[in-house]
Amino acid sequence: MGEQIRVCDVEKYYGTKDNITKAVNRVSFTVDEGEFLGIMGASGSGKTTLLNMISTIDRVTAGHIFYGDTDITELNEDALSDFRKENLGFVFQDFNLLDTLTIEENIILAMSLHGKGKKETDRRVDEVLKGLGIEGIRTKFPNQVSGGQKQRCACARALVNNPRLILADEPTGALDSRSAQMLLSTFCQMNREMKATILMVTHDAFSASYCGRILFLKDGEIFNELVRGKKSRREFLNEILDVLALTGGDSDYAE
Ligand SMILES: Nc1ncnc2c1ncn2[C@@H]1O[C@H](COP(=O)(O)OP(=O)(O)OP(=O)(O)O)[C@@H](O)[C@H]1O
Ligand SMILES: [Mg+2]
Repeated sequence: MGEQIRVCDVEKYYGTKDNITKAVNRVSFTVDEGEFLGIMGASGSGKTTLLNMISTIDRVTAGHIFYGDTDITELNEDALSDFRKENLGFVFQDFNLLDTLTIEENIILAMSLHGKGKKETDRRVDEVLKGLGIEGIRTKFPNQVSGGQKQRCACARALVNNPRLILADEPTGALDSRSAQMLLSTFCQMNREMKATILMVTHDAFSASYCGRILFLKDGEIFNELVRGKKSRREFLNEILDVLALTGGDSDYAE
């Protein structure tokens, strides 16, 4: 599979000269199409800052991020908004569903920005609802369904426009372990069957063990990388825990 994203010497500094925080410090890596990449690290290590620069929510202080041949750090606001619309899907920690709309309407809303016809919209919404096994709750409101179903609705919404890249910041952070597992399985499914590239920030080793590759951040820099390869999830989990132990703490995972 081809390279999709190239992060080159990216830096993000906060504050003034006398009191500077290097939130992300000369980070470089590439992501191939179809990868499920995790970004781990202790609190304050720069995970969200890095993800937000890749997702174009935040600007780099220095460096470049290429998306195919496009350097997204050079795009103006209008071009960025088009870029986001065409390429990205977001899964937020609190799922951001609108309570006054049904599950189905929440998903249709995400599609309506794309100017597709009704027929095409209905067909695609059907497809993702079925794909994620939530067609049975399409006419319910978010407060009438379970947490796990809400998550799958949020995933459906992120997926409905066929984004080439899905970005998720601590998507399992607020979930009990069963719901977390369901969300992670959904991510694997989106990755495997719909060929979506996924970038997931997590400080949780169990969640990270679902990824194909993990970058570890420390003080804004990449200090380690793990590839799952043919390993079982359990073996990969143990490897992840070993790396976290090296950094001294923040391995608060529950299984
Ligand atoms: N808007 C901001 N202004 C100033 N400093 C910031 C800002 N955002 C983040 N930082 C600092 O940058 C560093 C990295 O923050 P970031 O939010 O990326 O960490 P994180 O790895 O996502 O942490 P967590 O696991 O707690 O979410 C931290 O030292 C943080 O205090
Ligand atoms: Mg964060």
